Amino acid sequence: MEQFIMKGGKPLCGEVVISGAKNAALGIIAGSLLTDDDIIIDNLPDVRDINVMLEALKEIGASVNRVNRHQVIVNAANVQSVSIDDEYIRKIRASYYFIGALLGKYQKANVPLPGGCAIGSRPIDQHIKGFRALGTTVDIKNGCVVAEASEGLKASHIYLDVVSVGATINIMLAACLAEGRTIIENVAKEPHIVDVANFLNSMGANIKGAGTDTIRIKGVKKLHGTEYAVIPDQIEAGTFMCMAAATRGDILIKNVIPKHLESITAKLLEMGNTIYEYDEAVRVIGNQFQRATDVKTLPYPGFPTDMQPQISVTLALASGTSVVTESIFENRFKYVDELARMGSNIKVEGNVSVIDGVDHFTGASVNALDLRAGAAMVIAGLAADGITTVNEIGYIQRGYEHLEKKLQALGASIELVDSERDAQKFRMNAG
Ligand code: EPZ
Repeated sequence: MEQFIMKGGKPLCGEVVISGAKNAALGIIAGSLLTDDDIIIDNLPDVRDINVMLEALKEIGASVNRVNRHQVIVNAANVQSVSIDDEYIRKIRASYYFIGALLGKYQKANVPLPGGCAIGSRPIDQHIKGFRALGTTVDIKNGCVVAEASEGLKASHIYLDVVSVGATINIMLAACLAEGRTIIENVAKEPHIVDVANFLNSMGANIKGAGTDTIRIKGVKKLHGTEYAVIPDQIEAGTFMCMAAATRGDILIKNVIPKHLESITAKLLEMGNTIYEYDEAVRVIGNQFQRATDVKTLPYPGFPTDMQPQISVTLALASGTSVVTESIFENRFKYVDELARMGSNIKVEGNVSVIDGVDHFTGASVNALDLRAGAAMVIAGLAADGITTVNEIGYIQRGYEHLEKKLQALGASIELVDSERDAQKFRMNAG
């Protein structure tokens, strides 16, 4: 079973280049179904969820030419089926984007209910509300979403009851070829929403207002091919910012959009870290003495829920008591029990955690329970005294490209091992 094994206690120093945004690329890959022309996607992150989505496109007949790890050419002209289903696609959350894209292009879709990190119930009622408003019948049969717009998709005025990243992107995918003007209110404003809208507009869609509370879409008859580069990953960048703080290191994080990191920067500054912002980079210097602060996760531009485990681990090594409120998902504190094995002092009551900072962690064998919890355990292991092994790293590999290599380049003593023998060898060498 693959695991990360690391010897902590060393400040991480040096430069790291951030990959493309996973949660933008997933919507963009699905959106490539909306035309029969070539779609060239650049700055693709080389992570498992992306590869699962590309395989699913191949299974329904699209051509997928992986030029290299970070570039793919998709052509959906020969798509033969609107039914997507395999054991891998059932495991990822973003499979739901195939519903919106297949409805948009073929007015039909049969896609398994989404999987994804177990951080809450994660319904898709708002996605379904949007599709139905556009004139689609939607049923759940045998664990799949079966949708059809027999009279074609018609524009509508949709108000989302919950600010939802997935529903916002999915309804955009379905509506950009729908006749008339669609208005979607109370939408998510994350950078990846704007990126998917910009991608669709580069194909000839007419989408306005992405990044604000209301998106207006004027349906067009046809979409054409494009070449599009995915924006940098806000959450990968934030994860490395927390690594610099937690290990008291000094990291220049390159290929970022500093504006997307504002809420994370603000919190790390409140904690006493030093941060320099450049056009496309941020430098984080983790100061020896760091203060507690309070965090509440909110939809963008608030503090991202996907950074909650990572900032919590960093706060667990600061001085004083911090309060972290998780207002997006109802079950995103599972990592707290794993972190307790390393000496943290965190109490969870409902969607609030109270963190009493400790002056150090000790290494232990811990599990990655979901993607961002796994990243948080790596941060903890790199800050801890001694050896830490993080198991179930498949979760981490879904969203971080070659994390161990990027960390080795920052001076971390970390290896990806898949046998006890290799783990023992690491322990011997680490001394
Ligand atoms: C996306 O998930 C991301 N995943 C998540 O990132 C991220 O945490 C989340 O957005 C919030 O930013 C992908 O983009 C693949 P939501 P999604 O719909 O779309 C409720 C990661 O670590 N809701 O914005 O599932 C929902 O239960 C992953 O990269 C409904 O009630 O999130 C949640 O409480 C983890 N009905 C809230 O809204 C719906 O129909 C926000 O969910 C949809 C959502």
